[in-house]
Amino acid sequence: MQSALNPHGPEAHAIAQFWWVMLAASCAIFATVMGLLIVGLFGGRRADGPEPLRPRAAWTLVIAGGIVVPVFILIGFVVWSASISRDVSALPNGDDQVVIQVIGHQWWWEVNYLDGERVVARSPNEMHIPLGRMVRVRLGSADVIHSFWIPNLTGKVDAIPGQVNELAFEATAPGVLRGQCAEFCGGPHALMSLLVIVEPAAEFDAWLPRQRQAPVAGADTARGLDVFLARGCRDCHRIEGTPADGRFGPDLSHIGSRRTLAAATLPNTIGHLGGWILDPDANKPGAKMPPTPLSPDELDALLQYLRSLE
Ligand code: CUA
Repeated sequence: MQSALNPHGPEAHAIAQFWWVMLAASCAIFATVMGLLIVGLFGGRRADGPEPLRPRAAWTLVIAGGIVVPVFILIGFVVWSASISRDVSALPNGDDQVVIQVIGHQWWWEVNYLDGERVVARSPNEMHIPLGRMVRVRLGSADVIHSFWIPNLTGKVDAIPGQVNELAFEATAPGVLRGQCAEFCGGPHALMSLLVIVEPAAEFDAWLPRQRQAPVAGADTARGLDVFLARGCRDCHRIEGTPADGRFGPDLSHIGSRRTLAAATLPNTIGHLGGWILDPDANKPGAKMPPTPLSPDELDALLQYLRSLE
């Protein structure tokens, strides 16, 4: 599902088209050069064949085929690629845009939905976007340089500490897409992924207000919250409507409704969640979350609580 050659929007489409034309041109040039080489090696010279080229004509052929033609082809590609870059990195204005702040962390993505300058909802490692509406991403980093790349939607843009880089794109086909950090950022860089869920605008408009509200914990989950508050989880994680207000790790207010854990590394099942809490390093070597030793009934209560947060 993560593929630059399966475009889900106009920006990715322009990039994919350029890639296919470059591939076709490379194949044509390779076939021509190999054809000439074969003729040169095995063509032989028959007694009744044409006269060999005079040195002057041979030089003309080398200069035309080896310098003039390649220069024109390369200039053509440079101009075309610059024009695609300009179009893809354009930031169109419009009132209807969905503005999302994305902040790279070692090794996960903070995804915040903005209303003006205010964060109104959070869905770390899982970006929901509406079909057919322009999305504007304000990209930053909390630590080192990362690179935000959703190949099915647009080109990559670096997330740089102390700087906000913006990008805009539109999805024109629904689907669950995968994005990946594209700049080596240490440790489990390769496991710093995110999902992008492209849904019909009406579904997105119903989803966002639910994310804005504090979660409703399930029945009989008070003990799970106690474990969460007593065992150090609160120092790094935030759960809306509770005293847990940590900012170092992902917001867990709606973790029960998310598809993956650990930045799209594991499916969000009760078994994986339990394994992750007990030993993050075994699931994602180098992850910054420490292991949390819990008794079986503490773990059980914590899992019931977290799973109920939808
Ligand atoms: Cu973040 Cu690589």
